[in-house]
Amino acid sequence: MTVEAGLASPPEVDIDPFTPENLRDPEAVQTAIRETAPVVRLTKYDMYAIGRHDLVQTALSDYTRFTSTGGIGMSDIRKPGAWRTPSPIAEVDPPGHSAVRRTLQRVLSPVIIRQWRDDFMAEAEKQAETIIGSGTVEAVSDLVEPFILKVFPDALGVDMPREAFPLIGEMNFNQIGPNNDLTKASIEAAGPHLKNYEQYFSRESMIAGGLGEKIYQAEDEGGFPTGTAGVQVRSFLRAGVDTTIAGIGHMLLRLAQNPDQWAKLKADPSKAKAAFDEAIRMDSPSQLIHRTTVSDMEFGGLALKGDVKVGCFIGAANLDPRKFSNPTTYDIDRNSAGTHVALGAGPHICIGQNIARLEAEVFLGALLKRLSRIELDGDPEYKTINTLRSLDRLPLRLVS
Ligand code: HEM
Repeated sequence: MTVEAGLASPPEVDIDPFTPENLRDPEAVQTAIRETAPVVRLTKYDMYAIGRHDLVQTALSDYTRFTSTGGIGMSDIRKPGAWRTPSPIAEVDPPGHSAVRRTLQRVLSPVIIRQWRDDFMAEAEKQAETIIGSGTVEAVSDLVEPFILKVFPDALGVDMPREAFPLIGEMNFNQIGPNNDLTKASIEAAGPHLKNYEQYFSRESMIAGGLGEKIYQAEDEGGFPTGTAGVQVRSFLRAGVDTTIAGIGHMLLRLAQNPDQWAKLKADPSKAKAAFDEAIRMDSPSQLIHRTTVSDMEFGGLALKGDVKVGCFIGAANLDPRKFSNPTTYDIDRNSAGTHVALGAGPHICIGQNIARLEAEVFLGALLKRLSRIELDGDPEYKTINTLRSLDRLPLRLVS
């Protein structure tokens, strides 16, 4: 593509999004990236960064200009020295991606998801029953993690030790960012579980009746290239556990901080999904996903070079005042589903979004039935993971 002569290059921004302080409180980074210019260049990482809603949406969707084949992480998986292994769904462009996606969408049909509803609800009710009356709880470790770590691996039909999930999740979401100390430490921490990692996704390990078994059957029927079913199962596990734990945690925090929104839900529990979407808009679990420029181009009125990584700062885009009025107000009547980019956009938009919403809905429904309100009982604390915004501690008082 020819690029109009005279266009300016993106201005340089000398800010590091991946310091522990900025990861725990990303507002300054989000604002700097979004408000300095339509596209900026992060000097420390020699890459472009976008934080405006319309441009993030376009970059995530337009694979002809912004390819996923270089990987959704900061390292280019096509080049020597990459520190991530590719995903056979997330890191492929159409038309190859469309065939894989169609097969997975067939496996993950609405009928299958409806069948899971009863199991998810039974587990949510059981867990809520045991916790009510406890007064103050540590909501992440006592409530959210046990729920997701039971229902999702069971639905997938994967038997991985529960203690491995947070370690491997942390490693995955660190690896999407730079190869910094956080990434290195998390690879070391996950080390003991990595030895058996591939085995958890092997055909023999799939539990009968689970989604994983259906993914292998789809491969047998020619839906994927031979030998890739195990990696597909791994992609689901990578993408579907930590994100949902994070999203439900953010929802509980927002509801504790906004009793008026909790009251709206008590009056109309059918708003539970909206409460989840609005929470992941404000605190997007997946803060950053990358693409790579296919060639030199004009974008946002600036001249971009080809073959450069582009960080799509989802968290910044979801707080863009150009798109959302009063962006830092938690308003479950905003109807942000389908508008925010917390679940991506375009051909790669999250394939598990209805599962995440179902989990959040039944989880919250079980609490709404039993509690008159939830209150913060101390300061929440955030994890320090390169690209995942998730609570580490959420002390909540459960008021019956
Ligand atoms: C709050 C929960 C979730 C969040 C915030 C989230 C976020 C995202 C985002 C931002 C993308 C787009 C990636 C890109 O454009 O490159 C994505 C894709 C994906 N998600 Fe989710 N996700 C969530 C839950 C889930 C669940 C529960 C599953 C599994 C059932 C899942 C499986 C996937 C897969 C396989 C992809 C790749 C789709 C493709 O490339 O076509 N996600 N997710």
